[in-house]
Amino acid sequence: MDLKGIYTASPSRYAQSEQLYVRCGRSGVLLPKVSLGFWHNFGGGDPYERSRAITHYAFDHGITHFDLANNYGPPYGSAEETFGRLMEDDFRPYRDELFIATKAGYDMWEGPYGNYGSRKYLMASLDQSLRRMKLDYVDLFYSHRFDPDTPIEETLQAMVDIVRAGKALYLGISNWPLEPLRQAVQYLREHDAPLLIYQGRLNLLNHEPIEEGIVRFCREQGIGFIAYSPLAQGLLTDRYLEGIPADSRMAKDKFLHPCNRTDQLLAYLHELQAQGQAHGKTIAQEALAWILAQEGVTSVLVGASSVKQLETNLQAAL
Ligand SMILES: NC(=O)c1ccc[n+]([C@@H]2O[C@H](COP(=O)([O-])OP(=O)(O)OC[C@H]3O[C@@H](n4cnc5c(N)ncnc54)[C@H](OP(=O)(O)O)[C@@H]3O)[C@@H](O)[C@H]2O)c1
Repeated sequence: MDLKGIYTASPSRYAQSEQLYVRCGRSGVLLPKVSLGFWHNFGGGDPYERSRAITHYAFDHGITHFDLANNYGPPYGSAEETFGRLMEDDFRPYRDELFIATKAGYDMWEGPYGNYGSRKYLMASLDQSLRRMKLDYVDLFYSHRFDPDTPIEETLQAMVDIVRAGKALYLGISNWPLEPLRQAVQYLREHDAPLLIYQGRLNLLNHEPIEEGIVRFCREQGIGFIAYSPLAQGLLTDRYLEGIPADSRMAKDKFLHPCNRTDQLLAYLHELQAQGQAHGKTIAQEALAWILAQEGVTSVLVGASSVKQLETNLQAAL
């Protein structure tokens, strides 16, 4: 940023393109191997200038893909509002260089129409997201979870219509089990809005998407796979080696409970640390490199509470 606080993106932001970008399945889209998530650290209570510095660092180093959802915050909606502010302050000139995702599927507003997978919810939610994010369209819209009580065709047709209406360019699915995912892939293909990407939790402590055959299915179908919580929310880093820092997610947030910091985990972390030290890598870099080495994985979707963390994480891809 210059002295007047005006942001100009780094002219060298694509210097590492060859190492950084990967084709997302069999599509025209290239995504960075490390993408940035807005679940934490971009909410209404987080310092705006810190969120801003993290996004600047990301974009300045070729991280073009930002991942949001309607209810990221807290409070719900506030991460999208932060993004909208960033869009107004800094990123408007770079809109066509960004690949922005949002989602709907979990609880967002009160009453019967603010949750799960109805057409009513998905349509209204995306309109709200676009207003908060100050965007005309998102690049990627996800169904955030499978809703067994809504006919699958209703959810999927709403997604197709979202693309037809020009509100999203591509579609994604997150957290769906394999069987409904198969049906979705077929439906969306038949309706000319093919699935671009699947988003699932994959990390060294949780191999479910591999064990359940989702990663393989996506690979065979030409669909990208992006791994969320690749550092298990910070467990797979040096963050908790010496205790629970007061500014950490474990100390502050209900999503990461101190009971996860077990002796077994600490022993595993020391192993990873020793392994990494042999070739100059941190625990986080080891953890991210393992995911990126899995066949069919397009990108790791990291969170970061500082520029330094993102810098470390990005190195895992280069
Ligand atoms: N589709 C879904 O249902 C779903 C679910 C969850 C997440 N997601 C997406 O995935 C994104 C990432 O999830 P996540 O935040 O759980 O990812 P993560 O990368 O596993 O965890 C991020 C946290 O780990 C710590 N950390 C990150 N890099 C570090 C480093 N180099 N050294 C030490 N600590 C480090 C930080 O915690 P501190 O805050 O303690 O510093 C950071 O906030 C989300 O933002 C969201 O976009 C999607």
